[in-house]
Amino acid sequence: MKIALFITQLLCVLTAFVVNYSSILCGNEKNNTYTLGTASRDGIGKFYMEREISKVMGHLGASWLERPKREQEERTDLLIKGLDLKPTDKIADIGAGSGYFSFRMAKLVPQGKVFAVDISPQMVGMVRAKMAQQKITNVEPVQSTITQTKLPMNSIDAALIVDAYHEFSHPFEMATSILNSLKPGGKLILIEYRMEDPSVPIKLLHKMSEKQAKLEMKAAGFKWEKTLTMLPQQHFMIFRKPK
Ligand SMILES: C[S@@+](CC[C@H](N)C(=O)[O-])C[C@H]1O[C@@H](n2cnc3c(N)ncnc32)[C@H](O)[C@@H]1O
Repeated sequence: MKIALFITQLLCVLTAFVVNYSSILCGNEKNNTYTLGTASRDGIGKFYMEREISKVMGHLGASWLERPKREQEERTDLLIKGLDLKPTDKIADIGAGSGYFSFRMAKLVPQGKVFAVDISPQMVGMVRAKMAQQKITNVEPVQSTITQTKLPMNSIDAALIVDAYHEFSHPFEMATSILNSLKPGGKLILIEYRMEDPSVPIKLLHKMSEKQAKLEMKAAGFKWEKTLTMLPQQHFMIFRKPK
């Protein structure tokens, strides 16, 4: 009798531990969108569609994002050209970091706007400082959350995510929130280092395969349109919100 009571108590303690542990990592999600496992060196031990989510790059990585050689290494000039922006476009730079792309895009949308969206208050602060320094008025910094862009519904023509999606702790919620922020027919440009190419000198969890990206975007309701191949290291993937 005593043994049965002991086993029941032990099971209760174990259940409470598992529930608490998963709610810490998964933000109290009550579904099976994500699974938990052993974290690898660069990961958080949380998996979405069998992909381990990577750790977030903090604001101390901002100087790497702004490195002078970036244009040459990643051909960011071709990336910006490939966006095919119209002067009136409203575009969101999701996971904008220090605003490397936000400020380059701002020049191309003089009658439009760039929303520089990031969860990091320090990164958002850097964008604000640059706006004041360069007297730029068509960039709007947005302090977002790990699950929400904080942009109004159906408000933007396009969204750009560069080297950031793989580190979103809640990729399904973020992709859904981006879909909601886009106007019907609006496009999402997803840029990720090519997992398929071992010569790309980036840690594995900071890369994504095209197949995986298509799976994850489809789950949120996006339609894949095309993948451009002009960048030396990254996929340039275009998805649409259905009309
Ligand atoms: C590697 S940096 C890339 C910055 C920028 N896109 C670039 O290429 O220069 C990734 C950024 O994504 C941000 N981030 C991580 N999770 C996010 C989320 N759920 N929503 C918005 N930003 C997020 C991080 O704070 C970080 O600034």
